[in-house]
Amino acid sequence: MEKIAVIGGGNLGVAVTEGMLKTGMAPQSIHVTRRRVHYLKPLEEKGVNVGSDNAAAVKDADLIILAVKPKQAETILEEVGHLFTSNQILVSLVTGVSLEHMENVWKIPSICFRAMPNTAVELQESITCISHQSTTAENVEMVENLFKALGPVLIIQDDMMAAATVLGACGIAFALRFIRAAQQGGIEIGFNAENALKIAAQTVKGAAELVLQNGNHPEQEIDKVTTPQGVTISGLNTMEHQGFSSALIQGVLTSYNKIKS
Ligand SMILES: NC(=O)c1ccc[n+]([C@@H]2O[C@H](COP(=O)([O-])OP(=O)(O)OC[C@H]3O[C@@H](n4cnc5c(N)ncnc54)[C@H](OP(=O)(O)O)[C@@H]3O)[C@@H](O)[C@H]2O)c1
Repeated sequence: MEKIAVIGGGNLGVAVTEGMLKTGMAPQSIHVTRRRVHYLKPLEEKGVNVGSDNAAAVKDADLIILAVKPKQAETILEEVGHLFTSNQILVSLVTGVSLEHMENVWKIPSICFRAMPNTAVELQESITCISHQSTTAENVEMVENLFKALGPVLIIQDDMMAAATVLGACGIAFALRFIRAAQQGGIEIGFNAENALKIAAQTVKGAAELVLQNGNHPEQEIDKVTTPQGVTISGLNTMEHQGFSSALIQGVLTSYNKIKS
C-alpha cells in the first residue's frame, strides 16, 4: 500500500482524505497535517495518522498531496522542501501555482502533478482535472486512479488549470446558489424550507444525471418539458429576459479573469 501524506488538513485536504477512506484505503496509510491539529480529531478517530509535523509526514510518504493556500505552501516548502525526493510524487491542489513554477521556482525534485477537484470529493462525486510533467504512464495511471476513486477525472494541459478551477471548483458554489434560489422560490409558492430544499436539490441532481447518463445536450432535455404555451417555457423565458444564462456566463468570466490577473 502506498503511503500518502496530506499536507494541509483543511476543507479540501479533509474532503480528499474522507473520499480516500470511503474507497477502502487503509487509514493508517494516510498521514494528515495541519497546525491546529485538534480539528483533525474526527479523522484520528477513524485511524488516520494526524499531526502537525510536516517533516515526519513528508519523509514517510510515497505520494504527497499539498492542500494549502499558495502563501502557506511557500512557508511549508521553506520548512520541508529539502526533504522531497525524486522517488516521490507530489500532487499539488494549490490554486494558481503552475507546474513550471513548482519545478523552477519551488525547485521540487519530485514528480509533480496538479489536481483540481472540488469539495464533492468527500462524497466521491467530484470531477478532478489533472495536469502533469512528463512522467511514466504508470505514474499518471496511479494518480489518475487515486482521484478516479473520488469521481471522474480529466487529464488536461497545465495552462487549462485556471479554467478548470473556475468551472469545476468555483462551479460548486455557482450550482449551490442556484439550488438556494430555487428553494427560496419554492418557499414563496408554499413549501416549507426543508421540503423546498429537498425538491430543489434532487431536481438539480436529476437534471445533471439526465445529461451525464443519457449523453444528451441540456437543450434536448429542456425541449421535452417545454410544452408550447406551457408553464415551463414561460418561467424559463422570464428567467432569460432577466439575464439568467448571461449572469452565469459573466460570473464564470469574472472568476476566470480574477484568477488570471
Ligand atoms: N475548497 C475548494 O473547493 C478547492 C478546490 C480546489 C482547489 N482548492 C485549493 O486547495 C487549497 C486548499 O484549499 P482549502 O479550501 O482546503 O483551504 P483551507 O481550508 O484553508 O485549508 C488549508 C489548511 O492548511 C493548513 N495549514 C496552513 N499552514 C500549514 C502548515 N504550515 N502546515 C500544515 N498545515 C497548514 C491550515 O490549517 P492550520 O491553520 O490549522 O494549520 C488549513 O486547514 C488552496 O490552494 C485552494 O485554492 C480548493
